[in-house]
Amino acid sequence: MIRNNKTAAVNKSLKIAIITGAGSGMGRYFAYYAGHFAKDIDELWLVGRDKRKLYKTASRINKNCKCISADLSNTKEYEAFIGVIIDTAPDIRLLVNNAGIGIMGDFARIKPEENEHMAEINCVALTRLTADCLPFMSRGSHIINMASAAAFLPQPGFAVYAASKSYVYSLSKALSRELRKKKIYVTAVCPGCVDTPFIGRAEKYEKMKDYKKPFMAEARDVVLQAYRDAYCGRNVSVYGAGMKMFRVATKVLPDELILRMFF
Ligand SMILES: NC(=O)c1ccc[n+]([C@@H]2O[C@H](COP(=O)([O-])OP(=O)(O)OC[C@H]3O[C@@H](n4cnc5c(N)ncnc54)[C@H](OP(=O)(O)O)[C@@H]3O)[C@@H](O)[C@H]2O)c1
Repeated sequence: MIRNNKTAAVNKSLKIAIITGAGSGMGRYFAYYAGHFAKDIDELWLVGRDKRKLYKTASRINKNCKCISADLSNTKEYEAFIGVIIDTAPDIRLLVNNAGIGIMGDFARIKPEENEHMAEINCVALTRLTADCLPFMSRGSHIINMASAAAFLPQPGFAVYAASKSYVYSLSKALSRELRKKKIYVTAVCPGCVDTPFIGRAEKYEKMKDYKKPFMAEARDVVLQAYRDAYCGRNVSVYGAGMKMFRVATKVLPDELILRMFF
């Protein structure tokens, strides 16, 4: 496995962007706008479980797209996807780790396997894919990781999700430092609520809290902000004044105080 190799023989004549979860929500917009920011790419590799949705995304993009249907939590499907990367050895200019899931509700109410699945997709799959793509990345490449504003504070009623996004946030900031020497840029994207199918899927046991609704953002706006921040070299992208203020509040106030106010 390439996972153990630090470098790979890269085919510099094939420059690509990889976008996970490209079939819906923010992933579609990451795919639509990839070429505006990663100007040198020849191909987009769109990854998700549902191939029809990936084709739909691809149909709106004026570049070569490879649609790769893979459940990132399924070892066999994941290895097959990585096999394509190893065989092709593309020059990966942009990796957007966007795929993710969330389930709202108290920890004990959510099935244990669902809690584990959240950690598997949001943390393990993202870590694995980053490690497997890094040997194919070089000076000027970008990694954009979808975290969330949920990363800033523990969230009762969304505990595993918030913890998983804290992991992504922390990992991204550390990687951003480590990779600075190689001029590979890493950005953690931390929006509040975004109007995508994610919310409906997350509301399996509990509805979204009302106080979050006024902060609902449009997927396209969040993605454009994320790209602008990433291509300015910022290691964190927070969309909207409300979430920026929330981030500052979580830095200056004790967690316990904020939790008592909202939960
Ligand atoms: N919407 C929000 O309020 C919000 C806020 C902050 C952060 N986020 C984060 O933003 C990211 C994108 O979410 P979204 O809001 O755009 O929701 P979404 O439309 O539900 O998108 C999630 C994507 O993840 C993919 N995915 C899920 N499980 C997968 C798996 N096992 N293997 C491969 N792909 C998988 C899905 O692909 P398939 O459809 O093909 O399965 C889907 O395209 C997520 O990481 C989410 O945690 C969302």
